[in-house]
Amino acid sequence: MKAGREFSGPEQPETPNSKFQTPEKSQAPRAEKQHLTLFTMLVTVAGHSSNHRTVTFDSEGNAVLLIEQRLLPHQFKIVAAENFRETAAAIHDMIVRGAGAIGATAAYGLAQGARAFRGKDLAKFLQHVEIVYQTLKAARPTAVDPVNAMNQVRAAMRMGETIEEQQSLALAEAEEFANEDVRHCQEIGRYGAKLIRNSSNVLTHCNAGWLAFVDVGSATAPLYAAQAQGKKFHVYCDETRPRCQGATLTAWELAQQKISHQIIADNAAGHLMQRGKVDLVIVGSDRTLGRTGEVANKIGTYTKAVLAKRHRIPFYVAIPLSTIDWNLKSGFDIPIEERHESEVLGAWGIVKLQTSNSKLQTPAARAFVRVANPGSSAFNPGFDVTPPELITAIITPAGIFKPGELWKNRRNLGGGS
Ligand code: MRU
Repeated sequence: MKAGREFSGPEQPETPNSKFQTPEKSQAPRAEKQHLTLFTMLVTVAGHSSNHRTVTFDSEGNAVLLIEQRLLPHQFKIVAAENFRETAAAIHDMIVRGAGAIGATAAYGLAQGARAFRGKDLAKFLQHVEIVYQTLKAARPTAVDPVNAMNQVRAAMRMGETIEEQQSLALAEAEEFANEDVRHCQEIGRYGAKLIRNSSNVLTHCNAGWLAFVDVGSATAPLYAAQAQGKKFHVYCDETRPRCQGATLTAWELAQQKISHQIIADNAAGHLMQRGKVDLVIVGSDRTLGRTGEVANKIGTYTKAVLAKRHRIPFYVAIPLSTIDWNLKSGFDIPIEERHESEVLGAWGIVKLQTSNSKLQTPAARAFVRVANPGSSAFNPGFDVTPPELITAIITPAGIFKPGELWKNRRNLGGGS
């Protein structure tokens, strides 16, 4: 993985901004095809604001460019995955994470792998593409976006007769998937903003923000759109142990956008709900079953849905169409990723090492700190499944639906006939 680039920036933004970037200012490559761009997000690093997609592609270098999300919120840096195995490793190791972002990364990774093929034998080329597909698919099993994205790229490739044609179609379709992800999130914002009132208190879990997509985000899209409409509201971010995507990524995004927010411990949500401090919950999803309305999302989502039901608080899930799985018939069939126990047994953060002379400190460094009892082991399922009866509605780019309405609306939701 090649690190660096001049984007490598310092700590927290000096001047967080609250403005959406207008389409004219967008630096995102090929952002707007024929559809109208509503807004994209700005990142302010060292006082300089610009738009950064979570994932882009360097076609000359045949490299996938990614925001190194493990360093946020302490450092903003872009890294290059230079071959499809590095791209798969970046997904697996969570340099890039979040359903739509790993979907776009897998789409680019497939194009990257296809473009790296040298030779004239079409059968060998297709074998090679299959290896690329399976390698990227295996990187993270719960989210369905990578599979949907790569299937979209492969379907486009079949329109080409020669290897060269298929290689070029692969990249064009990967770009299209990324652009569509942005458009879908913008539409989610348009529909979802209506759910947020002035002085609403919103709870969210994990990070389903722009970092989890190509831009804008799913659960955050209604927040950003409501802010653009001039509404004032407050967001509680679940810290989201064990990897703390809420405390690190969602909080950073909201700070960038100047949205009022506080991080809460995961187990504080029930107390807040009981005391009337939460008006609605909005979360994302890594896989939503079109047939049943079940929602796989970051571990802890199900607990929040049970609590919301107990307190009669609306519980919404925001998803682009690429997050819908039209095949599986039961949430029990969703593969639940089990991650390394070290994530539970400790935490990553920034440490300032103190020397014996208390006035001298070495510069801050990212470090892992063991928290749990030495010798104890841990079990670390990454996701859980929330049943449809706990979900008020699902916010999609095609409108807001009850979970049980997805199947009968499948034609409008990209599910075919
Ligand atoms: O393990 P992660 O960080 O890739 O998990 C994905 C998530 O961020 C959440 O589950 C999110 O709510 C849905 S993805 C938009």
